[in-house]
Amino acid sequence: MISIEVLDQKAQQLIRQAGQNAYQKMENDYQIDTKTNYTDLVTTIDRENEQLINDQLRKIDPDSQILSEEGFGDQQINNMQGHVWIVDPIDGTMNFVKQHNNFAVMLALYVDGQPVLGYILDVINNRLYHGRTGAGVYVDNQKISQPADLGLRESLLAMNRTLTLSGNPALKKIAQDAIGLRMYGSAGIEMIGVITGQLGGYISNLKPWDLAAGRMLAEELGLVVKSIDGSSINVLSSNLVLVATRQVSRDIRQIIN
Ligand code: IPD
Ligand code: CA
Ligand code: CA
Ligand code: CA
Repeated sequence: MISIEVLDQKAQQLIRQAGQNAYQKMENDYQIDTKTNYTDLVTTIDRENEQLINDQLRKIDPDSQILSEEGFGDQQINNMQGHVWIVDPIDGTMNFVKQHNNFAVMLALYVDGQPVLGYILDVINNRLYHGRTGAGVYVDNQKISQPADLGLRESLLAMNRTLTLSGNPALKKIAQDAIGLRMYGSAGIEMIGVITGQLGGYISNLKPWDLAAGRMLAEELGLVVKSIDGSSINVLSSNLVLVATRQVSRDIRQIIN
């Protein structure tokens, strides 16, 4: 069986290739479709990237399962046994279309349910955040250290639109207590914010492909990745997730309870 080290090298090449595809075509070389409603976009580049990544993964790691957003993965994944690759071909499709900025390609490998490899490519800055469980987190070739354990009142906090507008009193208090509130529109870019210490926390409703890579990287750096009520997350389902420093997580728990 192929080693994790070799899978790591191949995955890095693959995600860079997908990033380059998006970068080269982002000015106008694509079509846009809507999915569930007018705010839910998919482009031909989302689909191309997913096909590219999944086709290669099937060659490199033929016995694995693939969970991905745009329909080129395995139809049904009921368990996390063996190798499971989780793919977000463009994270922040709306930003890709509207800003040509603040979007990512994300990939993760879970083995028997445990995060092993994680990748977030910030396409515009051409920076690859990657890591292997037990071996640290890197941006390109530079190792990242654990961010300072700041509390909510010393931290910028990111929250998605749905939660910000929900009117939930606890979420409102959390947002008010933070030193400032941010909304970037890409789970990947927001996770990079927490991993690098630019944000003290990020709260969002996340699907498996929004969460898988960032969770691996954040946990490897000693950050908290939990459901907002403090319970463990299930990578196969949609979760209301908090990614945060330990102190921000404690501060938020206090507001919620
Ligand atoms: C979305 C973005 C967005 C988050 C949504 C995600 P997509 O991913 O990460 O920031 O709020 O929940 O679905 O659809 O652009 O890959
Ligand atoms: Ca989407
Ligand atoms: Ca996506
Ligand atoms: Ca996404």
